[in-house]
Amino acid sequence: MIEGYEQAAARAEERLAAAADLGAVSGIERELLGRRSLFADAKRRLGDLDPGDRAEAGRRLNGARARVEAAAAAARERLAAADRDDRHAAERLDLTERLPQTVPLRRGRLHPVTQARDRLEDVFVGMGYTVAEGPEVESAWYNFEALNIPDWHPARSSFDTIFVDLGEPEEVMLRAHTSPVQIRVMEGRKPPVYIVAPGRTFRSDTADATHLPAFNQIEGLAVDRNITMGDLAGTIDEFVRAFFGREVKSRLRPSYFPFTEPSAEFDISRPDGSWLELGGCGMVHPNVLRNCGIDPEQWQGFAFGFGIDRLAVMRHEIDDIREFVNNDTRFLSQF
Ligand code: PHE
Repeated sequence: MIEGYEQAAARAEERLAAAADLGAVSGIERELLGRRSLFADAKRRLGDLDPGDRAEAGRRLNGARARVEAAAAAARERLAAADRDDRHAAERLDLTERLPQTVPLRRGRLHPVTQARDRLEDVFVGMGYTVAEGPEVESAWYNFEALNIPDWHPARSSFDTIFVDLGEPEEVMLRAHTSPVQIRVMEGRKPPVYIVAPGRTFRSDTADATHLPAFNQIEGLAVDRNITMGDLAGTIDEFVRAFFGREVKSRLRPSYFPFTEPSAEFDISRPDGSWLELGGCGMVHPNVLRNCGIDPEQWQGFAFGFGIDRLAVMRHEIDDIREFVNNDTRFLSQF
C-alpha cells in the first residue's frame, strides 16, 4: 500500500517536472494530495495496519507527500518564470534598428554662426556673466525710447528699422539691435547685473557680401557700483584674447550712441598690424538707468554689442556673408 503510493508519488514528480502549464500542475496535485486523492486514501488506510508498522508507514507517506508538494511548487515557479520570459520577449522593443546603408551616413553639425554664438556664451559665462534673451518683435519703447532715442532723434533713421503692421504706425517692429534686452533685464532685476544677450536682429538692408537683413548680435551689460570705462576696456580686451587668441589686441575709438555716454567703437588687431572694427560700446547713459528705475547716482554700468555673423566671417575668412544663409551643405560642412 505504501509502496504503491510511493511509486505514484515518484511518477508524479516526473510528470510535474515535465508539466507544460499550471492546469496540469493543479491536476496532479488534486490527484495525489487533495481530499479524494491517493494520499487521502492511503492515510485512511494507515488505520488498518498493525500498530507496530504504523509509525514507519506514516513517516514514508509524509515524506512522499512532501516530495510531491516540493515538485509542484518547483513546477509553478518554473512555469511562472517561463511566462515572464515569454512576456518580456513579446514586449521587447528593439531600439537598435539601422537603416539599410545604401549611402554612407554623414554626421550633421552646428551652423558656423551657432558655433560662434556658443563659444561667445562660453567665454562670457567663464567671466561670470549669465545669458539673457528677449523677443525679436519689439515696441518702440524697448527698441528706441527707453534707450534714450526719442522719436525726433536722428539716430532712429540710422537703424533702418523693419516695422510690423500691427497697432499704431511705427510702434511695433523687428528689433534693430539686441540693446532692448538691456532694458528688459534691468526692468526685471536689481543690480548688480552681468548678462550677455545673443539673438537675431533685423534691418531693412539689401543682402550683399557684407550685409544681411536678418543677422545676429550679442549684447553685453554690466551694472554695479563704481563701474568705470577701465572695466569696459579690460572686459573687451579679456574677451577678445579668450575668443581670438592671446596675441590679438583690442582698442577703443570715440564714437556716439544715444544709450551710452561716453561711447566708443572697438577694434581688434590683425596679424598685418591693421585694425578691424568689431562693435559698439560705452558707459550706460544715466537716462537709460533712470528709465529702468535704477538710480545713476548709486549704480553705473557699461554695455557693448557686436555682430556674431561678422565675427564668424572674420574668423573663417569668408568672402561673402550670404553663404551663411544659402543652406549649401557643401559650404557649411567645412566648419
Ligand atoms: N546697439 C548698437 C548697435 O547695434 C551697439 C551697441 C551696444 C553700442 C551697446 C553701445 C552699447 O549698433
